[in-house]
Amino acid sequence: MKIISVVGARPNFMKIAPFIKAINDYNRTDHGEIHHILVHTGQHYDDRMSKSFFESLEIPEADINLGIGSGSHAEQVGKTMIAFEQVLIKEKPDWVVVVGDVNATLACSVTAKKEHIKVAHIEAGLRSGDISMPEEINRLVTDRLSDLLLTPDLISNQNLLAEGVDSGKVEFVGNIMIDTLESNRNKATELNIRDIIANNLVKANHVPQMDIQDYAVITMHRPSNVDQRKILEPIIRFLVSTVASERLLLWPIHPRTYKQLVAFDLLDMIEEHPNIVLLQPLGYHDMLRINMDAKIMLTDSGGLQEECCVLGTPCLTLRWNTERPVTLQEHGGASVLVGNDIDKIKHAYQQLLSVDRVPSRPQLWDGKTAERIVDAIVKRCNL
Ligand code: UD1
Repeated sequence: MKIISVVGARPNFMKIAPFIKAINDYNRTDHGEIHHILVHTGQHYDDRMSKSFFESLEIPEADINLGIGSGSHAEQVGKTMIAFEQVLIKEKPDWVVVVGDVNATLACSVTAKKEHIKVAHIEAGLRSGDISMPEEINRLVTDRLSDLLLTPDLISNQNLLAEGVDSGKVEFVGNIMIDTLESNRNKATELNIRDIIANNLVKANHVPQMDIQDYAVITMHRPSNVDQRKILEPIIRFLVSTVASERLLLWPIHPRTYKQLVAFDLLDMIEEHPNIVLLQPLGYHDMLRINMDAKIMLTDSGGLQEECCVLGTPCLTLRWNTERPVTLQEHGGASVLVGNDIDKIKHAYQQLLSVDRVPSRPQLWDGKTAERIVDAIVKRCNL
């Protein structure tokens, strides 16, 4: 059997690493041979957004890199489809496996179906209900086309069934991100937070003077938070006046957000603050390490919400909705939705500071999801 799996952007890399390992484990048994080809669309291309994850998570170099790079959504999707079609014509795989909800996920699932190739979607069934999010459009289209929908939680199964998806195509396998977290937890634990800061400073001389026992972490990159000044500026003012007045704030900054801070003339306010430490985008283990001891996480990332859930880090989610409700406090998780309303953010921030770290583990977030995914694909091949 020949499988092409596709990655494009940072959150894909930690999802594909355990899948490739599970294929290699399967190939060491005497059941048969899976010929696996890894395609990187090249949507994320910086060393820090891409290469460092391949190295640290021991992902083999991509067999094919489509070199798509930056651009509007239509440009990224269009260029990926054109290049990926050629790959499919040449390689003729039995399955294309896509992960998550980025532009590569959408582009490659559509192209594969038009070439009559079966598609498996890892992380199927997540729904925010917010069609203005580019990722929600990517999820809806990918799931509508997929032949095998591999879900991370049972809420996702319900979402798919409510949309009329044939239950025979849906397989509840758990969360593959947690496979990566569990297999890298020990390595991350050994890292020293002071070294992580020193090695990743955006401004080399901005070494924090404050206590690093008590610190908050923020990550933000969604267009809905960073692309408009009227939304971004009040968030920045809240970080400066409230969060950083009480404790150190570590901020691994996404390239999109950095560009916007420069464009809106907001960067100085942050760079000049003694308690805000701007860091380059962090590698997987560094990010996991600073999450493990953070007093509080502020984020608009879906993956971090999940990691906070399993680590128990109180998590202020800077979004109005989430496709990952299983991570919310009301479902036993660590996360609270606050959108970008500053009063709401302030209130929830104070409330979360008094919450203890309580790790929670949704069903099948057990580190064995990748094995179940390979079994599910193999089973369908043998039907
Ligand atoms: C993408 C994903 C999003 C994911 C996020 C994680 C889509 C629709 N969005 O958003 O789901 O949560 O990645 O990071 O696929 N850039 C660099 N270097 C890089 C990559 C990007 O400088 O290696 C710059 C680009 O030039 C662009 C900006 O960062 O200006 C945003 O990149 P883009 O690929 O458009 O999407 P993300 O916002 O990263």
